[in-house]
Amino acid sequence: MSKTKLELTWIGKEHRPRLEPRILIEDEHLSYHAVFRREADIFDNILINGDNLLAIKALESSFRGSVKCIYIDPPYNTGSAFGFYEDGIEHSVWLSLLRDRIEILASLLTDDGSIWVSIDDREMPYLRILLDEIMGRKSFVAQNVWQKRYSRDNTSAIGDVHEYIVVYAKDPEQFKLSRNRLKLDAKNEKSYTNPNNDPRGPWQSISFTGEGFRANMMYPIEGPDGSIHYPPEGRHWATVEPEYRRLRQEGRFWFGKDGKGVPRTIRFLSEVEGLIPWTWWPHDDVGHTDEAKKESGVLFGRDKAFPTPKPERLIRRVLEIATNPGDIVLDSFAGSGTTGAVAQKMRRKWIMVELGDHCESHIVPRLKKVIDGDDQGGITKAVDWKGGGGYRYFRLAPSLLEKDQFGQWVISKAYNPAMLAEAMCKHFGFAYAPSTEHYWRHGHSSETDFIYVTTNSLTHDQLRAISSEVGEARSLLICCKAFQSARVDGFTNLTIRKIPGAILDRCEWGKDDYSLKIEALPFVGDGVGEEEAAEFEAAEAPVPEPKRRGRPRITDNSPSLFDVEDEA
Ligand SMILES: C[S@@+](CC[C@H](N)C(=O)[O-])C[C@H]1O[C@@H](n2cnc3c(N)ncnc32)[C@H](O)[C@@H]1O
Repeated sequence: MSKTKLELTWIGKEHRPRLEPRILIEDEHLSYHAVFRREADIFDNILINGDNLLAIKALESSFRGSVKCIYIDPPYNTGSAFGFYEDGIEHSVWLSLLRDRIEILASLLTDDGSIWVSIDDREMPYLRILLDEIMGRKSFVAQNVWQKRYSRDNTSAIGDVHEYIVVYAKDPEQFKLSRNRLKLDAKNEKSYTNPNNDPRGPWQSISFTGEGFRANMMYPIEGPDGSIHYPPEGRHWATVEPEYRRLRQEGRFWFGKDGKGVPRTIRFLSEVEGLIPWTWWPHDDVGHTDEAKKESGVLFGRDKAFPTPKPERLIRRVLEIATNPGDIVLDSFAGSGTTGAVAQKMRRKWIMVELGDHCESHIVPRLKKVIDGDDQGGITKAVDWKGGGGYRYFRLAPSLLEKDQFGQWVISKAYNPAMLAEAMCKHFGFAYAPSTEHYWRHGHSSETDFIYVTTNSLTHDQLRAISSEVGEARSLLICCKAFQSARVDGFTNLTIRKIPGAILDRCEWGKDDYSLKIEALPFVGDGVGEEEAAEFEAAEAPVPEPKRRGRPRITDNSPSLFDVEDEA
């Protein structure tokens, strides 16, 4: 019998976008940092305004294997229309949207890294199967239940008071070794008392039995009143006899106030390392949606409050478990910027991506307040945050290629030589690091392998000069407009490629928006059958006009780097 894979299917599953690795352009007017710097302040945080699929593709080469925790709170596909974004995304489109993004996100994780996804009851089963498919079933860590409401929802047949935060890890064993326990809060500490005034401080008695029969753990224990205790039916003592004797001598046994109770061991509060996190996240520990809305109202004013924020305490819990100060946290559905605000206050590095206008209208002012120490809400007091650090604001560069008046792909007019060099580095897997010493070094893939990008046509003499400068111990990839091809094989340390010809087939060009807007889809049943719908999905979505906001380097009537594709 042939083995069949257990998998979820949906319309358009086979269609995979061939993404262009864009470069990021800083908008310095919107970047922000504190006036002073202190020891642990973090300045290299990143906020990207744009579609998150292109944005995480842009981050891939620099951040592969380096993000400790990814938290995402994607649109839940609820069908309700929010003022800020389209949440009612058709089922298949939603699955493709998440699949394409999570696949790249997973590649950014450190070996002990984890991805946390907020989701409601309706989409959770689909998300779980999707995550199983992308990350592997063995990567599942936990499905936390967040009690999002504190009052009953009386409008439904059965009131909905919870959401989930599903956790997968790149390697659950490594995650378990590196994840943090939770600090005890006042409520937990209350269960430690000191009825006998033990000089070692408050303590709690815990069971001294384990399940099952173990011959060397069935010895008699004599209580202070002289009575003899054995483990209850079906259980054994927690340790072997010599270890029990040691603990007894240290005064670590409790037989109740009257000395007649069953033996229990004593655990002192001062020795407690913290609590192992569990999947039950009640609202009094991590906040609720009302609290989040109030936080948003205080930050932005009631009229501009973000409709679906998460409470800061909820994100704090995620980061407390999964990260330590200095680790990188990423949220590619940033919304009002809760993840970045909490990460900043907890001294983690953050990367956020947001497509909507609220990137500028909400996230920027929120983070400014956090950096200036003017945000007194959320977790500020609990983590003793006083302000500091900064972030850089980026937009995605437009597509590297555009069509000229003859329908030929040429380098976009928006690109200057430095941008072109950086883009070519991304295409060919080089780290962009232009040298001030050698004009032919724009980037490197190793200590001896370099890339040179030029808009010139190179003559045989020029190539010979470059080849001799590069030397035998190094290699160089040259991307140029054209070159004299005669006898070029003689330069064994050079590989020469023409642009844009060499990259034309590598990806799809000119596509700026992968947010898969459902308005663009035909209605099934409206003259279009399921098959046609599938075909439509598999085909290229219409290419929207590129957004050109705030890109100072672009002048529409400036000449292109290569006006016409030119064959040497
Ligand atoms: C539920 S909200 C996140 C709320 C956030 N956790 C908070 O506390 O404010 C989801 C966000 O994802 C954004 N989003 C949806 N599709 C996106 C895309 N393709 N690229 C970037 N952001 C996107 C929406 O604009 C929205 O702000």
